[in-house]
Amino acid sequence: MIPVNEPIIGAREQEYVLECLQSGWVSSAGKFIETFESTWAQYCGRKYGVTTSSGTTALQTSLACLDLKPGDEVIMPTFTIISCALAVIYNGGTPVLVDADHETWCMNVDQVEDRITDHTRVIMPVHIYGHPVDMNPLLTLAEKHNLAVIEDAAEAHGAEYLRGHKREDQEWVRCGSMGTMSIFSFYANKLVTSGEGGMIVMNDSDLASKARSIRNLCFEPEQRFLHNNLGHNFRMTNMQAALGLAQTERIHETVELKRRMGQKYTENLSDIKGVQLPVERSWSRQVYWMYGILLDKSHEMTASELADHLSSLGIQTRPFFLGMHAQPALQDLGLFQSEDYPVADHLSQNGLYLPSGLALSEQQMDEVCAAVHNILT
Ligand SMILES: Cc1ncc(COP(=O)(O)O)c(C=O)c1O
Repeated sequence: MIPVNEPIIGAREQEYVLECLQSGWVSSAGKFIETFESTWAQYCGRKYGVTTSSGTTALQTSLACLDLKPGDEVIMPTFTIISCALAVIYNGGTPVLVDADHETWCMNVDQVEDRITDHTRVIMPVHIYGHPVDMNPLLTLAEKHNLAVIEDAAEAHGAEYLRGHKREDQEWVRCGSMGTMSIFSFYANKLVTSGEGGMIVMNDSDLASKARSIRNLCFEPEQRFLHNNLGHNFRMTNMQAALGLAQTERIHETVELKRRMGQKYTENLSDIKGVQLPVERSWSRQVYWMYGILLDKSHEMTASELADHLSSLGIQTRPFFLGMHAQPALQDLGLFQSEDYPVADHLSQNGLYLPSGLALSEQQMDEVCAAVHNILT
């Protein structure tokens, strides 16, 4: 079986994790936590990093820092993982959706302004499958309406965005550098993994202290077992941070490798008719976290039939996200009644992603491309 993802765990990772085991620093205290936080924050061009137990809890913690009130609204894409909506709901807010862009598959930024109301507090852009959201319009709206931006860069380690494109003062910046707070996941299928884990990065020292407190049960520093606020245990362990740090030390190579892999898939698959492949805009340098393909209506086959064919040839794939508006668990809360998101529905029904892990060999990639050609042409 060619797996949809397999990470590369190198000698440095083993050395650092072994150091935790041998020294006994196995829980959430220990030197690797702070080093991982500062190294990753610096890579993203941020002042502070706060590790968490996952990307999901990074989202939860960042929204908890904003003290949402019941009825406060957070604008997000429908085409994303449920972690985004859960973080809003668990913090007492209401998710408000926009459809996907049919080319980048990220949120359609042209739909955001119409969704802003007196209750809007946050915009939550999510860089989907490694491609940056077009952030300029969102950052302008956030400033105009005094909204926080929680940037979800879980899938976009090292991806870059031409901030201010169309303006003179444009500059390339990394995903994760643009939100009031920006979050990452370090789950095993990400470019940098800590096994399970996440991080929030930011420039504001008060938000950093608040996030640190919330992820650690809001212990009062002066009197440990006194709690003035409700927190969570969302801590990362030193062992996870050791793994994440070792991976971060070769992030530049990893990003280059992922970009080469994505470009190779595009070269080999672009002659297949009726298949839409990941794009890269003049303002984006994407990292092809997962290499998605989208069948158009000229194919009789659905994405799930294509997945079955590939699976019978020993090639693992994953379906695209199912939109938040189509999630029974969220509809049962009375959310998104009679709302329509045709682009997200099209993506969910017709998209899947191919094996995209760092350990995928050239030969395996050739095998995947040959199989896709045989089935679709
Ligand atoms: C866009 C996005 N946000 C958040 C998460 C949640 O991260 P985790 O799985 O680490 O909880 C994921 C997970 O892959 C994700 O894809």
